[in-house]
Amino acid sequence: MTLTIDIEPLSPVLGASIRGIDLRKPVDVATQKMLYQAFIDHSVLCFPGQELAAADQLRFANFFGRGDGGDRQKSRDANNRRTGQRGMMYVSNIRENGKLIGVLPDGEMMFHSDGAHRESPYRATTLYAITIPSQGGNTLFANLYAAYEALPQKTKDKIENLVTRIVYDYEAVDRADTIAADPVLPRAQHRLVKTHPDSGRKTLYLSRLMTQDIVDLPADEGEELLLELFDHCEKPEFVYAHEWKVDDLLIWDNRCTNHARTDFPAEEQRKLRRYTVSEPDAPVQT
Ligand code: OGA
Ligand code: MN
Repeated sequence: MTLTIDIEPLSPVLGASIRGIDLRKPVDVATQKMLYQAFIDHSVLCFPGQELAAADQLRFANFFGRGDGGDRQKSRDANNRRTGQRGMMYVSNIRENGKLIGVLPDGEMMFHSDGAHRESPYRATTLYAITIPSQGGNTLFANLYAAYEALPQKTKDKIENLVTRIVYDYEAVDRADTIAADPVLPRAQHRLVKTHPDSGRKTLYLSRLMTQDIVDLPADEGEELLLELFDHCEKPEFVYAHEWKVDDLLIWDNRCTNHARTDFPAEEQRKLRRYTVSEPDAPVQT
């Protein structure tokens, strides 16, 4: 029996919707390769109508790299910080006994790329919709290949060799917070223009939430350039808005897209299950 897998673009900007595959069942290596190629071609894949247990989602994550399937809850150090390997997380505003069950709980989030503050950022993120509010809470995806390609040649030449500092401060709600991020927060340096290792295409690598500054440029000159580039990347022509349905499974490529979230009613519940995908040769992460 041959499966007929149907791949349809999600939007003119990026993304594809994939039907005709049941991710609860084993997937042969040829199909896994085909899915990886679709991921490279479209940058965001949506598998609607999947009914997945956590183990199914982790198996899927492993088709795309090293799924972060550790048990991060179990081990804690003397300061009660998690020391376990990265694993499943919920993205949710739900509280049980007054405690949040997940991360990234409330409201709007600025554009960013997951793990950009690490030497080796997550290659991809998978998110599976369990409970979705009646309105809002959309995830926006920006195509950073297209944003790069649309820049004037003069700007491309100017930014070609620049390096940025990227910081993780998910509590930041505006640029001032990111610029003034606490020096103890984790950060890394990355090139502003990268070549995607699988597609060979050039892409911008920066975001309003996480890029703190440009190394080797005076602060105001760097910030002016960054603001211009953030505005450029966030133009509607480069952005697809995903309106979640329960049982959607998404995977996105953090190497050539940014994502953001729109606001949603605080009194409604939102819950998604998340596994990141690391580069296979990255050190094991907590
Ligand atoms: C994430 C994230 C956005 C959302 O899981 O990394 O940014 O829409 N999620 O919840
Ligand atoms: Mn994110």
